[in-house]
Amino acid sequence: MTEIHHEGRVAIVTGAGGGLGRSHAVLLASRGAKIVVNDLGGSRDGTGAGSEMADQVVQEIVDAGGEAVANYDGVHTWEGGSSIVQTALDAFGKVDIVVNNAGILRDVSFAKMEEPQLDLVLKVHLYGAFHVTRAAWPHLRENNHGRVINTSSGSGLYGNFGQANYSAAKLGVYGLTRTLAIEGAKYNITANVIAPAALSRMTEDVFPPELGDKLQPEEVSPLVAYLASDECTETGRCFSVGGGYIARVGILEGEGVFLGQGHSIEDVAANWDGAMQLGPGSVEFTNGVMEQTGKILQAMS
Ligand code: NAI
Repeated sequence: MTEIHHEGRVAIVTGAGGGLGRSHAVLLASRGAKIVVNDLGGSRDGTGAGSEMADQVVQEIVDAGGEAVANYDGVHTWEGGSSIVQTALDAFGKVDIVVNNAGILRDVSFAKMEEPQLDLVLKVHLYGAFHVTRAAWPHLRENNHGRVINTSSGSGLYGNFGQANYSAAKLGVYGLTRTLAIEGAKYNITANVIAPAALSRMTEDVFPPELGDKLQPEEVSPLVAYLASDECTETGRCFSVGGGYIARVGILEGEGVFLGQGHSIEDVAANWDGAMQLGPGSVEFTNGVMEQTGKILQAMS
């Protein structure tokens, strides 16, 4: 098969100072894309800031013969999104690929969750993807070409204890992606979303150490780079990805039951099995983010 390249393309990767974002940026750069390495450089819960993380990844890309510039803005503000896109325009004259990857965690059970835990998590993940894509959108439309890759999570798709804030944000990213795919179609802009599993600063205390070798960020990036390529015209899709495994994830609707107009509560109860039916046979349910990871591990073994 011919090698896939991103020559002549300009990619913004948010949160690219470490973990998955770094891996995506390095791979895209190795295939010829010019990269804006964005990272706020703060801690895992979104506090603090610094230039070192983004600078290091830029240096790594340049040392390997690629082209990259750093941007230290936070995706969580409208101005931050605009400034990140402006960095691409100033350095490289355009933007073609947007990888919305930046993320933080502020885990706490729903009963104990307070406004600061809700607010910043929604702002970084959901608003962040919105801000950066919104600022890039007119340029993608003008070029009649664009690739948007968003980052959801099994926690958003399936739920996870202690992550009501993060789950809500991450399923929001799914919904955003679906609409971007619809609105982008006539401008050749695709939008897809991944739910990754990888060892990173974010998950170092989630995955057992023995899995670390297998769940490397580098096992997620080839899918991202494929979705970012000219060769891939897939759009509006969601993928569970990690450790060498890729599976499409979809939201399903069953055949349903028709109860007629003016039906009663008791009619609902009496037809519950029909309403619950999700189609014949081959549909597999995933209950919780741990089960998602379990499926990846099963595929690996
Ligand atoms: P990470 O913590 O290594 O990377 C996230 C990066 O985003 C950090 O470098 C951080 O400085 C940056 N960041 C945080 N707030 C920012 C802001 N306001 N503006 C710009 N940059 C900011 O974590 P990881 O695992 O690489 O996560 C990447 C993405 O993948 C996140 O969106 C995360 O929610 C998602 N994800 C990761 C999973 C995993 O198994 N590692 C599982 C599911 C989703």
